[in-house]
Amino acid sequence: MPTLAVYPGSFDPLTNGHVDIIERGARLFDHIIVALLVNAEKSPLFTMEERLDITRRVFRHLPNVEVDTFNGLLVDYVERRHAQVIVRGLRAVSDFEFEFQMALMNRQLNGRIETVFMMPAEQYSYISSRLIKEVFALGGRVHGLVPDTVEDRLRQKVQKPASSPTTRKRQKSRARK
Ligand code: PNS
Repeated sequence: MPTLAVYPGSFDPLTNGHVDIIERGARLFDHIIVALLVNAEKSPLFTMEERLDITRRVFRHLPNVEVDTFNGLLVDYVERRHAQVIVRGLRAVSDFEFEFQMALMNRQLNGRIETVFMMPAEQYSYISSRLIKEVFALGGRVHGLVPDTVEDRLRQKVQKPASSPTTRKRQKSRARK
């Protein structure tokens, strides 16, 4: 029977650490579904459409990588997709406690599903989506830590901040000068 794995997460945004895990998973399993959790955060930086588009573009060269969204309990989604494995990345000891709790809770909810942990390449072991957003917002360089398409879109977000009425007034008065 082909082994089908699900790699769940928020991916806001996708980092090269995630990419590394997905590529490893694609070599190990017959099929791997990257499952983006809907409504993980109240105000994500990237919309679900943007995250889907980014992830699909990055993995379009890998036919056994599928990108999908899910809502509700992860184990229910895994069962619905007839998958047998949940893949999670482990970067450091600090990840362990939360991941351990999740794996055991998921096993309690559905004993037929196994969680498999994979380590990313060491150059990505300190990267997280949260840090990427913080560093970029403060003007730091994230080149090489996220796919190029994510870097481009981060730049577009900074170039197109939502304009306030005050900004609009200033822009109009500058245009008149
Ligand atoms: O990218 P993240 O935030 O590390 O991903 C966490 C995720 C999506 C794997 C986790 O929050 C999850 O599985 N959410 C779905 C709801 C669920 O099943 N909760 C119980 C987990 S034990």
